Amino acid sequence: MAKVYTVVGALWGDEGKGKFVNYLCNRNNADIAVRFNGGSNAGHCIHTEEFGTVMFRTLPTGSTRPGTTAVLGNGMVIDPEFLLKEIKVVRAINPDFKLLVDKRAHLVLPIHQKADGNQDDERKQSIGTTRSGNGPAYSDKAFRAGVRVQDLYRLNWELDNMLSAVVMRNGGGVEDLRELEKLSRKWREELSDYVGDGSAHVNDAISEGATVVFAGAQGVLLDIDHGDYPFVTSSNCIPAAVGTGAGVDPRRVDDVVGVVKAYSTRIGEGPLPTEIRDEEVAEHIRRQGNEYEIGVHIHRPRRIGWLDAEGLRRSARVCNYDYLAITLLDALNGLERIEIPGVGTMPGWDADISKAKSMDDLPTSMCEYISEVENIAGCRVGLVSTGPHTDQVIDLRSEWR
Ligand code: IMO
Ligand code: MG
Repeated sequence: MAKVYTVVGALWGDEGKGKFVNYLCNRNNADIAVRFNGGSNAGHCIHTEEFGTVMFRTLPTGSTRPGTTAVLGNGMVIDPEFLLKEIKVVRAINPDFKLLVDKRAHLVLPIHQKADGNQDDERKQSIGTTRSGNGPAYSDKAFRAGVRVQDLYRLNWELDNMLSAVVMRNGGGVEDLRELEKLSRKWREELSDYVGDGSAHVNDAISEGATVVFAGAQGVLLDIDHGDYPFVTSSNCIPAAVGTGAGVDPRRVDDVVGVVKAYSTRIGEGPLPTEIRDEEVAEHIRRQGNEYEIGVHIHRPRRIGWLDAEGLRRSARVCNYDYLAITLLDALNGLERIEIPGVGTMPGWDADISKAKSMDDLPTSMCEYISEVENIAGCRVGLVSTGPHTDQVIDLRSEWR
């Protein structure tokens, strides 16, 4: 049956959203996968038998599936260089790849990337951004000086005036402008086949019974309104952001899925109330969970904490999840005790769950931990990840029907 899903990160990002977006696209033969917030600050990975590991920053995972059209919503800020590179990678896997880029999405320009790094260094208390140009591009949008995808198709002199204003605003000079003028002509050519009205396309498709997966980036605790401001990203990451970021009424979504990692991670600065101070334990989890950011401009280890019950409660309140998807339980392997500050200490596990097909194949202590996550969030866990591959999932939803 046709269905509409929204998948968001319930915590600070890097929960494994990409895997579940891909899983839901494959499992339901999705017609469309839609990104609605952020830009190349995201890193969404899939691992499959067929193609190995593929990393997406701009396109939604699911783009490699023949038959799924990718839509980049108006709420995104798009770095065209990244997008064009990603299109090539996806084409090699899925030659029939179809893409629609909303004409109202804003562009991330090289000058935004420079400004992102400089501005963060100059702050009294740095945020530790991904330096991908996200914040400055959204600043220009809010200042009403941004350059949108559709602006590439203006007359040259009009476009160049806009570019000039953005370069000046972000502290660039004549050289930056000349480079940008050249790039903009290339983007105009190379993107022309993809530009359209994302909101119209997705709404019409839903009306005709299409299956759609909205793919959130970042996480609810990084949301510019609901996260720990100012240590947040520059966009809304909550499920309701499909309204602003894709032009689709959130009431058209059937299942809102929050992806939760079995522990907390955070890159960049800002509160991580449950941060693990015992570096040996933190490193154990970091290594098993491969918790290193491979960013556009910076690589860094992620900070590690126990599951943040308070953060998860807050996230669940704002998002009203239909169910959760839980990831990286296996990265906690080998710990005698697992803490959930404010809730208690639970027995750990040490088990190979990579081939588990049902809850009966999981250790009892892991099942108890999953129940505790349900208690905290006040909703069910519907999907359990048993490893990095797309099909390593225990799907509990069938038991509910
Ligand atoms: P995915 O989609 C984790 C964090 C940055 C920084 C703050 C602001 O892979 O889960 P920004 O560059 O957005 O201005 O940085 O937000 N951040 C992320 N953390 N996963 C992400 O995306 C993130 N995108 C931004 O580390 O603390
Ligand atoms: Mg990330």
